[in-house]
Amino acid sequence: MIWREYHEYTKHTAQSLRRSQHFLDWANMPDPFRHYEGVPVLDLPADPPAPQASALGILHGQAAQANALDGPAFLSQFLYHSAAISATKRVPSSGYQYALRVNPSSGNLHPTEFHFLSQGLRGWPDGLYHYRPSSHMAEQRAEGIVPSGLPGGTLNFVLTSIAWREEWKYRDRAYRYCLHDIGHAWQALVLAARAMGCESFATALFADDELTQALRLSGDEWPMLAVSIRGPAPGEMRAEAGCTWHGGEPNILSTNQIEYPRIEAMHQATKVKMNGTGESADHAAISNGIALPAPALSSKGYGEVARTRRSALDFRGGMESISFGDLSALLHAASQPLAGDFCDRRFVQLYLYVHRVEGLAPGMYRYWPETGQLELMRSGDQQVMAAGLSLGQQLAGNACVAFSMIADLERATRLHGDRGYRCAYFEAGAIGQRLYLAAESLGVRATGIGAFYDDEVHNYLGLTSQMGQVVYHFAIGHPVHDPRLDAHG
Ligand SMILES: Cc1cc2nc3c(=O)[nH]c(=O)nc-3n(C[C@H](O)[C@H](O)[C@H](O)COP(=O)(O)O)c2cc1C
Repeated sequence: MIWREYHEYTKHTAQSLRRSQHFLDWANMPDPFRHYEGVPVLDLPADPPAPQASALGILHGQAAQANALDGPAFLSQFLYHSAAISATKRVPSSGYQYALRVNPSSGNLHPTEFHFLSQGLRGWPDGLYHYRPSSHMAEQRAEGIVPSGLPGGTLNFVLTSIAWREEWKYRDRAYRYCLHDIGHAWQALVLAARAMGCESFATALFADDELTQALRLSGDEWPMLAVSIRGPAPGEMRAEAGCTWHGGEPNILSTNQIEYPRIEAMHQATKVKMNGTGESADHAAISNGIALPAPALSSKGYGEVARTRRSALDFRGGMESISFGDLSALLHAASQPLAGDFCDRRFVQLYLYVHRVEGLAPGMYRYWPETGQLELMRSGDQQVMAAGLSLGQQLAGNACVAFSMIADLERATRLHGDRGYRCAYFEAGAIGQRLYLAAESLGVRATGIGAFYDDEVHNYLGLTSQMGQVVYHFAIGHPVHDPRLDAHG
């Protein structure tokens, strides 16, 4: 299988980092905004209201009440709280300003594009649209009903990745980050939908080339995940398919796009779909586990939390802590069921580096979601180790708690072929998004960490590759002030 070669080749080691002579070519930085030029562009109403349901409640599986909205109002509120620009940062030395979005992204490079098929939304023409976050508008690429092969419904999102945006900085490791970012964007959609009283279902096991053709996607955009939203303001459903294409000319993102054959090969390999073998899930049986206390509560509204979510630059360290109830709320949010055609089996397990959690001794723990228990693996201070394993990034040591997400890649790929590699990363990104929002709800902050010494993590956690491999690191704590930040309403 190709995934093993790709994964092995893209591991960080001290040697690989020393060998790396990569300098960022700023003049060739890909444009973070895709436009399909020459198509009708539809306005989304400005200043949509914030969904008020408790963000932590939504993360813990509660449902919110739906409001009867017409199509434009629904889409505006939905996209404003899942994919829109939510802040800007200014570099003090140069004055250069750049946008940050509701969905996070490795290096803020935003490889993910949001397309959607709408059918029967009141006051909104049926069609295929591409979301334009730079102006909070929708580009109409086709009007009518576009046959896509995806399950029918009022609203079907298709998330695509433009790998070049990540390759520009992260080179061969970039495919991993594209997949993480899709997982984050997925949950950004799912949770905003839930906060607006809608349910959703993700489809990852579709035929790639057929969907690319059906949506006439630009060659540099790869469809990765479809997310159908059920329950938004339905109007009249038309039975007959048929549409008028505007298509649109995709903008050029860089003058000189460099090829990354390993990523091309990996993407091709993950297009292969195999049938599952119907494995049973394993359940934790630990006798000396530490039971989690009741999760902490928070009444912060979803709209506010989604729009103020930010990555911490670093954490304050020192004596500040979180409560055990906060940690319980974070883990509870991370382990809720996910709805999708690849979600019957979970592939990712959390290992925790506990630095400062009141009532829980510092140490490295494994989390067993089935029984809601923590298993102590190593006791003692983990701050130096967590930062060291995270490529020396101090924020993993200054946080109150840091995480290694360990994915059973063998199992994922036994079930879905190489495609399972994508699925495991989507799950890690989804957990990351849930941790980001839960942290924000609790008045602390998080940061995703895609850079770590892979095999050093395995050695420290005592894992063979058959037992699982590290796919993502995460840190949560009290953030340092970021003077460059300017939040948007
Ligand atoms: C998959 C992923 C990996 C990331 N890796 C790192 C990292 O290694 N170090 C870091 O400081 N931030 C990391 N980040 C945080 C991003 O830099 C941050 O999301 C981006 O700058 C946008 O800022 P925002 O999250 O405030 O919107 C990562 C984020 C994601 C989603």
